[in-house]
Amino acid sequence: MMPWDKRHLIEIDPFSREDIEHGFFLIGIFEPYSGIVHKGSRRKKLNVCEGDMMTMWFQPREERSTRTFGSFQAAMSYLGGDSKVFDELESSMVKAGESVEDTARIMSGHSQLIVDRHRDPEHIYKVVRYSTCPAINAGNGSHQHPTQSLLDLYTIYKKRGKIDGITVAILGDLREGRTAHSLVKALEKFDEIHIVGIHPRGLELPNKFATSQYEDRTIGMRELNNELKNIAPDVVYATRIQKERMEEDASQYSYVIDEQTMNCLPKHTLLMHPLPRSIEIDPRIDSDPRAIYFEQADNGVPVRMYIIATLLGYEQEVLALRN
Ligand code: NCD
Repeated sequence: MMPWDKRHLIEIDPFSREDIEHGFFLIGIFEPYSGIVHKGSRRKKLNVCEGDMMTMWFQPREERSTRTFGSFQAAMSYLGGDSKVFDELESSMVKAGESVEDTARIMSGHSQLIVDRHRDPEHIYKVVRYSTCPAINAGNGSHQHPTQSLLDLYTIYKKRGKIDGITVAILGDLREGRTAHSLVKALEKFDEIHIVGIHPRGLELPNKFATSQYEDRTIGMRELNNELKNIAPDVVYATRIQKERMEEDASQYSYVIDEQTMNCLPKHTLLMHPLPRSIEIDPRIDSDPRAIYFEQADNGVPVRMYIIATLLGYEQEVLALRN
């Protein structure tokens, strides 16, 4: 495995444990500047990325985004830089059939960073090949979503103080869910991790993502509560059934975490979800202190500030913010 070269962020795989822990340290520096008002943020605009332009290349229609898109833009703004949106549908890709390769060359001519989300898992690889500036994978089809995994790990780390030694139950769509794929890979970097993938038949984790800590539990989702009671996980990571990526009827896979489920979980368990939720989390449990998915989403801003600043080479400027 090649180490992370800090030139692009494509997959979580090249990150070492040290990279991730150093990331936690830098994210902690950004937190007070990340605009999260209820966390006591100073909302002071930094000038770390002043003069830098970030292009948001999010595939329209197929790959809509609320959290990832919004938190990347907010992160760049809090860092003092600018962002612009590249809308394929209003571009020469539609007018003249301009290729991804040429478009990437052109985008990098007027940006310092490209954030890319596309249904085609290969799109990001083309972008990094042809652009002359760094690029970030903000979700490539059903492959990976590495910045989501960094914010997932950071959330666990903040809540528990460490990641080693935890049992994580990942629920739902392990076949198409890119957040599940990169989370399994990210957890692999830590010690004594036990991951249990709980899913209905047909939504198995693809073999290429399964690590030695991974254990598969194909169940009828009506048995979910019993299963969770037996496992007593430290973290439950629920995912949405990715119906937009399926040919078959997705409703056969549906499941719900409700008050009864919460009654089967230990008091210390963290309930996480990358969001958006469909029906898999009953809103009536939002007030349960173990339900931390909104706090998890908030962490997206400082995590993306860290990624942007690192890829643009501003680590010294970031360290200077401690004073
Ligand atoms: C996820 C995604 O797009 O993969 N959302 C996100 O970025 N937080 C999860 C999903 O859409 O189910």
